[in-house]
Formats: sequence, structure tokens, C-alpha cells
Amino acid sequence: MKWRTVPVDKLTSEQASEELMALAQEMSEHDVAYYQNDDPNVSDADYDALRLRNEAIEGRFPALKRADSPSDTVGVVPESGFGKIQHSVPMLSLGNAFDLQDLEGFDTRIKRFLSLDESEIISYTSEPKIDGLSASLRYENGVFIKGATRGDGQVGEDITENLKTLRDVPITLPKGVPDIVEIRGEVYMAHDDFETLNRQQSDKGRKTFANPRNAAAGSLRQLDTKITASRPLKFFAYTWGEMSEMPGDTQSEMMACFDAWGFTVNPDFKVCENVDALNKHWQDIEERRSMLGYDIDGMVYKIDRLDWQSRLGFVSRAPRWAIAHKFPAEKAITKLLDIDIQVGRTGALTPVAKLKKVTVGGVEVSNATLHNADEIKRLDVRLNDYVVVQRAGDVIPQIVEVLVEKRTGEPHAFQFPDNCPACGALAFHEIRADGEQDAVRRCSGGLSCPAQAKERLKHFVSRSALDIDGLGDKQIDEFWSYDLLRTPVDIFKLYQLANEAPEIWLYTSGKNKGQLKDSLTKLFRAIEQAKNPDLDRFLFALGIRHVGETTARLLARRYKTLEGFRDAILSMCNGNEESKEELASIDGVGDTMVESLLTFFGEPHNLDIVNGLINVGVAPVSLPEAENNTPISGKIIVFTGTLTRMTRAEAKARAEMMGAKVSGSVSDKTDILVAGESAGSKLKKAVELGIETMTEDEWLEIASTA
Ligand code: IVH
Repeated sequence: MKWRTVPVDKLTSEQASEELMALAQEMSEHDVAYYQNDDPNVSDADYDALRLRNEAIEGRFPALKRADSPSDTVGVVPESGFGKIQHSVPMLSLGNAFDLQDLEGFDTRIKRFLSLDESEIISYTSEPKIDGLSASLRYENGVFIKGATRGDGQVGEDITENLKTLRDVPITLPKGVPDIVEIRGEVYMAHDDFETLNRQQSDKGRKTFANPRNAAAGSLRQLDTKITASRPLKFFAYTWGEMSEMPGDTQSEMMACFDAWGFTVNPDFKVCENVDALNKHWQDIEERRSMLGYDIDGMVYKIDRLDWQSRLGFVSRAPRWAIAHKFPAEKAITKLLDIDIQVGRTGALTPVAKLKKVTVGGVEVSNATLHNADEIKRLDVRLNDYVVVQRAGDVIPQIVEVLVEKRTGEPHAFQFPDNCPACGALAFHEIRADGEQDAVRRCSGGLSCPAQAKERLKHFVSRSALDIDGLGDKQIDEFWSYDLLRTPVDIFKLYQLANEAPEIWLYTSGKNKGQLKDSLTKLFRAIEQAKNPDLDRFLFALGIRHVGETTARLLARRYKTLEGFRDAILSMCNGNEESKEELASIDGVGDTMVESLLTFFGEPHNLDIVNGLINVGVAPVSLPEAENNTPISGKIIVFTGTLTRMTRAEAKARAEMMGAKVSGSVSDKTDILVAGESAGSKLKKAVELGIETMTEDEWLEIASTA
């Protein structure tokens, strides 16, 4: 969480790039937990905070936007078990407004986009944002034929039979409906039904659900339809996908049709004439929120006129014509019993509050994050204090306030440890690139610290690094606990170990022999395949501090081979100035990174690991050479505005492959500016400077020449 302490406008581009990568990875993990496992591991508020932070960084460093940017993704690709259904019209997500100002911004943007006068009246629909899971129902000639989950927005899971068991899902529609009708809405579970279900589950000694959303998701995504049928699921219709004919000209007319066709439309659906009216409706529902009988996490506003909706269209993951206006997170008061210190991959010590169990918004909470020592100081939180905990969706809540007036006596302030609790090495504050002391305390034990070594292993095999299928956090924890894994080199020796001492595998896994053999065969195949990663991924996998994916790519381009890279850095460690200059001359490599590489390779243990990997046959593959005879070779190119047919990251990678240098800002050195949709100040500046500008189409033509 260290990055959250650095204001976005203070981030260097290198920090930004690392943070964007960390955010993409972290958010995709949260997405899997939420969408696939129905078991979220952060609160909605925390998730929103990550998304906002990601957007702010991308806003400031548009060129660093990643191909896997969380702002372009909705949910995750469905798990196997269910058939897949390609949505004929993608199922998208919504942008968020957190306060009146955001809402006014939304209204202003719309008016600007539609070239309407500020005083013009725009009617919006307003309705609760149901905290469930979305589903799409397809009817052909009035008969329900297919139903799907959202999945990744493009492809969902086929849950037709399960949806048929819902009372709110009509099997046939009245005569005269369009030939093709796709109704979309939210499947959810009401509070009283949720409580009854959990009581039954616990009576039967079965797993209870953390909240109604998880219960709804767990109930709907059952391979056994009978189970779904026994669960009290409900459905609110709120939008549509493909329609062979439109039965209305406005959102509200469409909802009236859905209602007439037998669907349930939210009773608190309303048309409002302006932002004030929307805000009033929002306040009204917020007051009644706990009495509605089901979970909602905000309100959704949509432009009523459909012709305006189509003119406004979409930006990446969400429509321009709709927005979710969130409610503040839910809070509760409890006692702080203790503060635990956890150690991460980079040695960061993170304090975790141990709380007296309390129910917040229907979920039992006993841990909360405290981020870092500064946060403890800021809150001035002491052991045994009464604190306000906040969560929105689930788990990992936060302490937002200390109730000083409830304090008895003069409790001592929490002493943040000077030593790592996992290995005892000194824990220190790094000095950041801006010369300030970092808020995070870090263990100096490096790989000799078991906590760091284990987290580094997890990073080494993670998706953006060596991406070893079947070797996830759980397996690493397990192999670690049996002393089978200590360093990345051990991963490539697992096969040998398994052959030498096969009985050990029977302890390490709860599986039977047949399953074990299958999963091991798969795992060994994945490990074997991981022996030839792209050099940049390999360098990134090493987990060298400050070497993010972008830097790793720069290093891989310059040094071409692992051995070349290693030898150059070693000679720098031995005081060779030329090697140091070569490294420092790479655009994008600064002093912090030079220091970091010196530290990494100056540690014999790290060098042993790199050499050990080479010895067990790991042979990273060089990146393809950039071309030097394309129309843009050697030129400095800037991308601005929204590209619609290629992501920013793809455009950047393509331009670099074609020998151009991509920059984030326009200056008199810029050769070409590619201006996508709604390009703003950069385009203006480029025109003023007389720089060659191109449309996205012109750029695509060049990009496809080589
Ligand atoms: S409209 C094209 N209306 O919220 C946008 N969504 O955070 C269609 N949701 O994916 C969505 N209640 O799963 C809409 N009244 C409502 C909603 C609603 C809940 C969900 C839906 C959507 C997500 C976005």
C-alpha cells in the first residue's frame, strides 16, 4: 500500500509505471476473488479507492496506460464448468460518482458532449444500484431461450437452467413483443431470505455466506440446478442488450414495457429533471436504505432519452450516459485488541489491527488494515482504544476514527518495531527519489528473511512474471511449509524431488493418488514451459526493487541476453565506470535504479539465484529487435486522446517495435502527435508548435505497414 502515500502529482513516471502494474495485478486478484470465487478480499470502498488511484495515474501519465489496465476491464473470464455464451451486445460496467461535485461534473460533461446549453433540462432516470450479480436473459419469439452471467463483459457463463428457477424470470412473454428481446438486470437475495438460508446452512453443518451478494452468487452459479431452485433468488430488470425492435424512445418507457411484460422493475425507479432532484432522491433512498430489505450500494442515473444515449456512446468500460452515485461505506464501533505486523515481498512491514469481533453491515469483522506507521500516528490509535471501522462490501475493513473520549487511562502509543518480526533484521525507512523518507518501514534481511523469500517466490511465478500455471499462492505456501521451496531455483528442481521422494507429495496435498498424478504432471509441464520466458519478464520476476515491467523491458532491450545483463551489472559492482555509464544512459533509468541494481547484485545470495537458474536450464528469450527502416524509426511520437481500435499500451509497444521513441508530453523535440478521440491540450500545443499530427486511422495505416 506504500504508493498510496505518494500524491499522484508527485509520482515519477517510473513510480507511476510500477504502481500501475501493481494496481493491475492487485485489482485483477480482487476481481477473481469477487467475480469467480464469490469471496471478495477487499471492501468495495477499498476497491473503488484503487480504481480511482489507477485512473488518476493514467490521467497524468496516459502513455503508461497498460494493455491490461483495470479501467478497460469488467469482471473476469468465466471459470469452466458452465458453457460459455458470447454476449451479442457487451455487458458493461458503470463509472462512479462519490459526491455532488462528481455528479455535477457528469451533467456538465454530458451537456458539453451533446452541445447543449448549461441551462437545458436533461431528464435522468434514477434507481437503486442493487448489490447482486448481473444477468442477461434472451427471449426469441417470446420464449426464454438463454441466460448468462456477465463474465468478462464479452463472454459469460450459460446459467439458463438456473435462471429458469427464479420467480422473477418469466419463461414466456406476452404476445406482440419484439422477436428478439434481451433483458438485463441484477440477481440478488433479500435480507430475510439470506438470514433464513444461513440458518438452514448452519443447522446442516454447511458453509454459511458472508453476505447476501455472496449467497446470491453462490446460489446462482450452481452446477446442480436443484440447489439453485431451493434458494430464494430475485431479479430486478434495469436495462437491455439486443432488441430486434425498440418498444420505447426513453429509458422510462422501456422500463414500463418490461414491467408490462412481467419483469420486476425496482419500485424506487423515478425520473428526475436535474442534478438537484437526483441528489434528493439519493438522500431519500439513503435514509431508507436499511429498510429496503436488500443490499444496495448507491443509485444509478441514466439519461432518459435514448437518442441522446446513443449519441453519447461508451468510453472503454462504461456508458457516457449513465453513472453510479455511491453511498458512503458502512461503519461500526469496536475495540482494538492488538496490532500485528505482516511482512511483504519487498520487506514492507504492514500493521494489521486485531479487533474485537463486530458486525459491520451484516459481516463479522476482526481485522482491519492500518497501512503503515504514519497511519497509526495520524490516527493516534492505541491498544485497547475504541475505534470506528468501515467497510462497504466486504472484508479488510479500515479504521477511520479513534474515539478518544472513550479512552480510559493513558494507554501507551504503539511502538512500531525497529526489527522485522519474521527474521529479526533491522527495519528501516527508505529515502525516496524525491529525497523524502518513505512512510513504510522495510526489513533489511532480503532473501534471508523467510517472509520476503516466500512472497518473492509468489511474485516470481505470478501472471506478469513467469506465469507458472498451477503454482499459485496456496501451492507455494504448502511447498514452503514442507521445506520443498526456498528460492526460485527450487521450482525447477521440484520434478527431481518428486521422483526421489514421491511419498512427500502425499503429505503435501489432500488429493488422492490419481488426482495428484494429474495435477503434478500438469504442474511439471508448466514449469518446463516457463524455462524460456521473455527476458523482460524474467528480469521483472527477479523482484529487484524499482525494476517494474517497463524498466525490465528497457533493460532487456539494451542488454539483449541474461548473461550480458548480469555481466554488465557485475562489472559495475566491481567499480567499472563504463558499465555504470552504459546503464545510466538508458532513457528511463535513474540513480535510484542504478543503486537498486548495485544492491541486488552486490548481494551474493541473489547472484547465486540468477546463476542457479541458468544452471537448471532457465534460458530467457531476447526481445525482438526494434526495426530501423520504418517511416517512424528514430522519431519521437506522442499519443493523446482516446484510441478506439488499439489500446494505448499496444500503440506504444507497436511504435517502439517500429523503432520510434514514445513520449508522454509534447515538446519541440516531438516529431509526431497521434490524436485520438477528444484529444485536448496536447493537440493544441502540437498544432501551435507546428508538429505533424495524425488521426488514429492514419496511425493505424503506418502501424500496419511494417
Ligand atoms: S445499469 C451499461 N442499473 O452495477 C450499464 N446497473 O457497477 C448497465 N447494477 O454492471 C448497468 N444495479 O451489474 C444498472 N439499477 C442498475 C444496477 C446496475 C446494479 C450493477 C450492474 C453493473 C454494475 C456496475
